[in-house]
This record gives sequence, C-alpha cells and structure tokens, in this order.
Amino acid sequence: MTVVNLDLSGKTALVAGASAGIGRATALALAASGASIVALARRRDRLEALLPELLAAGAPSAVALVADLDDTAATAAAVCGLNAQILINNTGGPPGGKLTEASAQDLAVAFRRHVIGAQTLMQGVLPSMQAAGYGRIINVLSTSVREPIPNLGVSNTIRGAMASWAKSLSKELGPGITINNVLPGFTDTERLSSLQAGVANRTGLSESAVMAGWVARVPEGRLGRPEELAATIAFLVSPAGAYIRGQSLAVDGGRLNTI
Ligand SMILES: NC(=O)c1ccc[n+]([C@@H]2O[C@H](COP(=O)([O-])OP(=O)(O)OC[C@H]3O[C@@H](n4cnc5c(N)ncnc54)[C@H](OP(=O)(O)O)[C@@H]3O)[C@@H](O)[C@H]2O)c1
Repeated sequence: MTVVNLDLSGKTALVAGASAGIGRATALALAASGASIVALARRRDRLEALLPELLAAGAPSAVALVADLDDTAATAAAVCGLNAQILINNTGGPPGGKLTEASAQDLAVAFRRHVIGAQTLMQGVLPSMQAAGYGRIINVLSTSVREPIPNLGVSNTIRGAMASWAKSLSKELGPGITINNVLPGFTDTERLSSLQAGVANRTGLSESAVMAGWVARVPEGRLGRPEELAATIAFLVSPAGAYIRGQSLAVDGGRLNTI
C-alpha cells in the first residue's frame, strides 16, 4: 500500500505574514501536520493570540517573531542561525495602481519587502536546512506570475521578480531542498477586502458589484479560502512533495486562462 507522507514531525517552519490571511492559515495547517512554528509578522498582539491556537492544532512548540520585512538589517539579525527546515515567504501585497503612476520609491519598497525579504529569510535558515538534509521554501505570490492583473502594476512586477528568484534558486539549492511558488486567486482575506474597497472607490461601483464581477470570472463560482492555499502548501512542504521543484501552482478556482 502506498502511504502519502504528510508528516512534519521534527520539522520547524518559519512562516512569514503569519498574523493574518493565507500566512495565518498556513501556520495552522503546518502545525496540524506536526511542525513546530515560528510565526513572523509585525503585529505582536495578533501573533501572541495565534500561539495557543498553533499548540492546540498540534505544533510541539510555537513562538512569535516580531519583525518588519521592510527593515532588512533587523530581519537579518532576527533570523540569523534560526533553526527551520521549512520557510514560507509571505508578506503584504503592494497597493493597487498603474505602473505609469508608480514612483521609484513604490518599486523600491516592494522589492525590499518581497525579494530582499525572501532572500534575507532564506539565508537565515538555509544552514539549518542543509544540516538537516531537508528543506522546503514556498513563496506565496499571485496568479499575476502568469497573467499580469490590470491596475496592480507594482505587484505584477514584483511577483515576476520573485518567480525568477525562485527558479534561479531551484537550480542552486542542493538535493532535498526544494523551492516552489503558490499563486493565490481571489482569496477571502483582509488583502482582498482592501483591494475590493480600492476598486469600488476608483470605479464608482458598489463593493458588492466588484465582488460579483470577480466571482463571475471563477469557474468554481466562489472565492478561495485561506485554508485551501494552506492545504496546498502543507502538501508541497511535506515528504510527499519532494520531487516538485521550481514550480508555480495556481490555487485560483480555475480563473487563469493559461494552459
Ligand atoms: N488574498 C488574495 O486574494 C490574494 C490574491 C493574490 C495574491 N495574494 C498575495 O498573497 C500574499 C498574502 O495575502 P493575504 O491575502 O493573506 O494578505 P493579508 O491578509 O494582507 O496578510 C498579509 C500578512 O503579511 C504581513 N506583513 C505585511 N507587511 C509586512 C512586513 N513589512 N513585514 C512582515 N510582515 C508583513 C501581515 O502582518 P502584519 O501586518 O502583522 O505585519 C499579514 O500577516 C500577499 O502577498 C498578497 O498580495 C493575495
């Protein structure tokens, strides 16, 4: 009988953006698979409220790591030498808007938070992955890796950079240490609510009309749930996901048109 091994006992996961949305759901899913969790974000109160939930879900241990990915030096100091065999690169998406109206600063902020943030976390934990002979890095990006999304110019640009970073690393990391991207579609989180309000404000449509327009483009006929992204990630970081490497997997209810 073939057993699908999803067990993360003995592993530690550093989950960034763990105080809300997809990151929070991912921390809980990895805890339920038996991983110890280091939950990183800026809001201490949110992280501390999450810790007992992580322990109740099955994590042998759970700690909060308050860090701002916009502060590279402080983040590097916080994760230097951290023991983690699983790294979830996940952070707040850039605000909406056209690239023609974006400033150099908008692009620099996004590059620092996403690409330099991921590079900093990766370099902090890579030695412990190498020592364990087991490593999994997941980047939470966007379907815009495949199809740029109108009015999300800075976000589209930075997701492409992250996908290229990940593909490059997939060739450099040794056997047993994989990196993959998950691409959320419309997922029911605070991020989506703020984008919804932004589109309503810009177009004059009601927020419910904006939502109806989004859902109409999804063959599955509804928003994604953060737990559905988390379940995909839990598989990819498990022993069962060992031969999947350098890939971008959309979890979007079928919205993308690309094959
Ligand atoms: N939801 C969607 O429909 C959707 C679709 C496509 C792509 N995505 C992308 O997927 C990722 C996660 O989305 P989400 O919907 O879960 O977002 P979210 O609800 O806005 O959560 C973002 C998380 O990132 C943390 N964060 C933000 N800035 C940070 C910083 N400078 N340093 C450290 N942590 C930071 C936030 O915590 P603190 O505020 O406590 O730091 C929070 O935990 C984002 O990149 C988003 O753009 C989402």
